[in-house]
Amino acid sequence: MSPSVNLNIPEYVKHEKIKAWVAEIAALTQPDRVVWADGSQEEYDRLCAEMVASGTFIKLNPEKRKNCFLARSDPSDVARVEDRTYICSEKEEDAGPTNNWMAPQEMRKTLNGLFEGSMRGRTMYVVPFSMGPLGSPIAQIGIEITDSAYVVVNMRIMTRMGRAVFDVLGRDGRFVPCVHTVGAPLAPGQQDVSWPCNPDVKYIVHYPETREIWSYGSGYGGNALLGKKCFALRIASTMAREEGWLAEHMLILGVESPEGEKTYIAGAFPSACGKTNLAMLIPPKAFDGWKVTMVGDDIAWIKLGEDGRLHAINPEAGCFGVAPNTSELTNYNGIAMLKENTIFTNVALTDDGDVWWEGMTKETPAHLIDWTGKDWTPEIARETGRKAAHPNARFTVPASQCPSIDPRWEDPKGVPISAFLFGGRRASTIPLIYQSFNWNYGVYMAATIGSETTAAAFGAQGVVRRDPFAMLPFCGYHIGDYFDHWLRMSKNVRHTPKFFCVNWFRLDEKGKFMWPGFGENMRVLHWIVNRVNDRVGAKETALGWMPRYEDIVWTDSDIDKATFEALTEVNVDAWRAEMESHKESFDKLGEKMPKHLALKRELLELRVNSGQPAR
Ligand code: GTP
Ligand code: SPV
Ligand code: MN
Repeated sequence: MSPSVNLNIPEYVKHEKIKAWVAEIAALTQPDRVVWADGSQEEYDRLCAEMVASGTFIKLNPEKRKNCFLARSDPSDVARVEDRTYICSEKEEDAGPTNNWMAPQEMRKTLNGLFEGSMRGRTMYVVPFSMGPLGSPIAQIGIEITDSAYVVVNMRIMTRMGRAVFDVLGRDGRFVPCVHTVGAPLAPGQQDVSWPCNPDVKYIVHYPETREIWSYGSGYGGNALLGKKCFALRIASTMAREEGWLAEHMLILGVESPEGEKTYIAGAFPSACGKTNLAMLIPPKAFDGWKVTMVGDDIAWIKLGEDGRLHAINPEAGCFGVAPNTSELTNYNGIAMLKENTIFTNVALTDDGDVWWEGMTKETPAHLIDWTGKDWTPEIARETGRKAAHPNARFTVPASQCPSIDPRWEDPKGVPISAFLFGGRRASTIPLIYQSFNWNYGVYMAATIGSETTAAAFGAQGVVRRDPFAMLPFCGYHIGDYFDHWLRMSKNVRHTPKFFCVNWFRLDEKGKFMWPGFGENMRVLHWIVNRVNDRVGAKETALGWMPRYEDIVWTDSDIDKATFEALTEVNVDAWRAEMESHKESFDKLGEKMPKHLALKRELLELRVNSGQPAR
């Protein structure tokens, strides 16, 4: 016990509750020092330099990447751990069957045991942050206590972080307390490792009623940067339900026509299924004069505006994006923004001090240091199957560095949303694009999205699972109540957004993607924008409205009519199986499953079985 640790409370902190809470956590975790992050550039540079000295960071060649660093995590700590993530509501039924639950008292006991002395030998940082522009009426404030300097510098990119947050909080402002430890205390004189974590014990815990977050044992991404999934999705979704808004796993983009007409779209896709790429899309030549701009690439907070429209803000300030397969060809803007001020995690290091990952360039470098710190050559890869970069390797970069950032991305009022897209990674069954007949059926479509699992979460990959609204791992309460909340949300909306399902990932019989994706997705976005503005036709199918071949601009495209038919095919047998799986997922929700959605399923079943035109 080190009761004597100096709390170093800065004079600008006037909030007694925060002071008391910091003292309490310091007494529990027993760090050697307490440092209050001020969010300044000097502090960022100092922490980065300290991490270079300690081996956590490798400074990249400044001629290749200015002010950029590489971190390599422990091989046990590479992604979100969904089976270690808990929603500890007072009642189990409030967490629902899709979340792990433990009684709050029991969890508090467990965590108190784990956190006791967990910061010994380390520095405890107090990190004040705002999700959303500082002082905006939509923004929410959190304070993360962490013993990871890596977390501090990442939080500075991902959120509005620093002492100005205390000006907004004043003496008694509302904040979400977030407590994080890597769970690796150091004995006196013990040498630290480059990526401290607890390889065996991890807990990512949310108390929705008291709005608290506790995270133990991991330093990676959504497990540790607590403003992101833990706050801006799991806790915010419970706030949103209570207060009548939406906290969603959605990108936000703007489409501007050559005439200057602007349409904003929000899209939910499961982790590693294309949000960042779509948000940064550059239209192909055929769309001369069209512009796509990014408001956000991962999270949207959506509220009803006085104009009767739904308005969305991006609560984040940075992108924590998937590196593998990001290339100049697939995501030019994504590559362009990584030139400076970027933290790379678990990518490969080139011999000239730059970074590399699978799918970045056509040519593979002859030699690299892989994400585990070992020599890597194409020969070694062929023999062992080892990847140079981990499939969930990521970059942390300020959103403002995106060349296509939308001029209104920090507008506290948000941008008006005209369409919602929902999509997953599906090799078959789901057509390229279809439009819902109305809001409630749109909620059904979103509630039944399936997707093949990816490397963004620990566990088996490529298995189709239902991921409703791409929120399965992120909804902070019972998913049946969440569907109900979405159904209710239409009530006061006067300008109703249209709902669409998309699937960029359909495979042909040879296992190749049938749809070119990336920039080519503009053809689908263009049809969506035209639908929203009542300018283009469609055909009615059992699933919804779909573009006819002639409704899409095909200039410079290789997609012929036959391929388009295959991409939009509704296979009746496949859809019977699909709807069976919808039913199974609904049946698991019991009493809280809105009856209305079960009805929608029966109607869909009738349409599919009645042999409505399959295409
Ligand atoms: P999270 O940050 O995990 O929430 O993921 P995200 O939805 O932002 O995913 P991201 O855009 O980073 O995409 C991840 C993977 O999907 C990468 O391997 C991309 O190359 C791939 N991808 C994205 N868009 C497309 C597309 O249109 N077609 C195909 N075939 N792959 C795509
Ligand atoms: C996701 O998994 O959906 C992410 C990455 O956006 S993480 O922040 O690690 O959750
Ligand atoms: Mn995400």
